[in-house]
Amino acid sequence: MFLTEPVMTQRIPTWPWSDPAGRTVITGEEYLQTGGYEALRRAIEMDPSDLVELIKNAELRGRGGAGFPCGVKWGFLPEPDGGRRYLAINCDEAEPGTFKDRLLVDYDPHQVLEGIAIACWACRLDTAYFFIRGEYRHQARVMEQAIREAYEMGIFGSQGLMKGATNFAVECHLHRGAGAYICGEETALLEAVEGKRGWPRLKPPFPAVEGLFGRPTIVNNVETLAAVPHIVERGAEWWKGMGCESTIGQAPSYGTKLVGVSGHVVRPGVYEVGLGVPLRDLIEDENYCGGIKGGRAYKGCIPGGVSMGILDQNEYGAELDFDIGQKYAIMGLGTACPTMFDDGTDMVMVARNIARFFKNESCGQCTPCREGSQWVYKLLVKIEQGYGRASDLELLTEVAGAMGSMPGTTICGLADGTNWAVSTIVKKFRAEFEARIAASPSVAAVS
Ligand SMILES: Cc1cc2nc3c(=O)[nH]c(=O)nc-3n(C[C@H](O)[C@H](O)[C@H](O)COP(=O)(O)O)c2cc1C
Ligand code: SF4
Repeated sequence: MFLTEPVMTQRIPTWPWSDPAGRTVITGEEYLQTGGYEALRRAIEMDPSDLVELIKNAELRGRGGAGFPCGVKWGFLPEPDGGRRYLAINCDEAEPGTFKDRLLVDYDPHQVLEGIAIACWACRLDTAYFFIRGEYRHQARVMEQAIREAYEMGIFGSQGLMKGATNFAVECHLHRGAGAYICGEETALLEAVEGKRGWPRLKPPFPAVEGLFGRPTIVNNVETLAAVPHIVERGAEWWKGMGCESTIGQAPSYGTKLVGVSGHVVRPGVYEVGLGVPLRDLIEDENYCGGIKGGRAYKGCIPGGVSMGILDQNEYGAELDFDIGQKYAIMGLGTACPTMFDDGTDMVMVARNIARFFKNESCGQCTPCREGSQWVYKLLVKIEQGYGRASDLELLTEVAGAMGSMPGTTICGLADGTNWAVSTIVKKFRAEFEARIAASPSVAAVS
């Protein structure tokens, strides 16, 4: 349906909107009354380069999946040359299990807009594109209304940030996706905003140097930007007082994180926690998820989204921080949206279901990804349906591995994600795959 609709032009039916539980969006006026946009007021009194330094010092790591240091990314921008410079805000959030940015847009869109305005001032970016997943129809309307309010309040628009308090003007536009997961990859997102097919670009050049319309561009996740006003207001040390240090000599995981928990838990939902919280504590705590649903036992968890790989029965105590990839042989923390599986879960089915997603979402530019994802899916269907052989399991491991283990053979990380998702499930729950194959009628007929 939404594919045929023009970009939002109408207001949402009621403003401020509220959900069935009575929770209401914070309007621009309410946001101002509770101290909103104070951080922006403070930021525009600072030199932009000092703001970049502040975010660097806070060691704010990107919340979009890769955990790249935000201040360092901002520092990659070349000096302004009088031409356009862009901020692209990534609200694609299309990976299964991931739904934490939606909460910010639904209830607190001005917090995100304040982060956008500060980022634009800090990096001297004059145009912001808020890219939102096509299926987020309601959220697009909420954000469009909030952007309209921000214009009315003089945050954005030709008169300059904060009603002419600066001579620097920022325009902010909403751009809806059309339903493709790949448009969350930052360069595919740029292509989509330019009105083209969402195909990832080869890097370098990186977006900071050559991004939207060939101009310097910063791409940041919604949650990353929502953290910025708080750091400006309370300082880098305050931010670093939350979260944790690395225990393996890597960069620290400071601050809080939104975690979106789904699957077999009593209370799924989005929670804000300090980075480093053990998965078990988050799940079992009565004030958070309330344990595994139906009194069943924990079997596994994908810390999220599905491309990150899986934690097994012995890894329930894993700390949710940016070290998790190296410590537990998975890809990484990703968006920190755990999908929980109880002991009744069929892991062959889980692997097949995830592989189906990736083969459907591969954009098809790179052979290992286009062909590999189809092949992996077909092998998993064969095993799940009871026609698998032992050699299929070896082939599956080999094909999936080839999608991820050869850096440089694919343009973007989707192929790598397919490998991590499938290979870790096969490795950590191998006995289940072997049992399915042993019970296969075709194997029984041969032996
Ligand atoms: C296939 C794929 C999908 C992605 N989807 C998203 C997404 O939905 N949202 C997001 O913020 N980042 C997504 N990313 C990561 C972005 O490419 C980029 O790293 C991120 O938006 C940068 O923001 P940050 O530095 O604030 O985290 C995706 C990456 C890949 C490879
Ligand atoms: S890795 Fe896959 S999704 Fe990414 S560009 Fe290549 S074919 Fe497209």
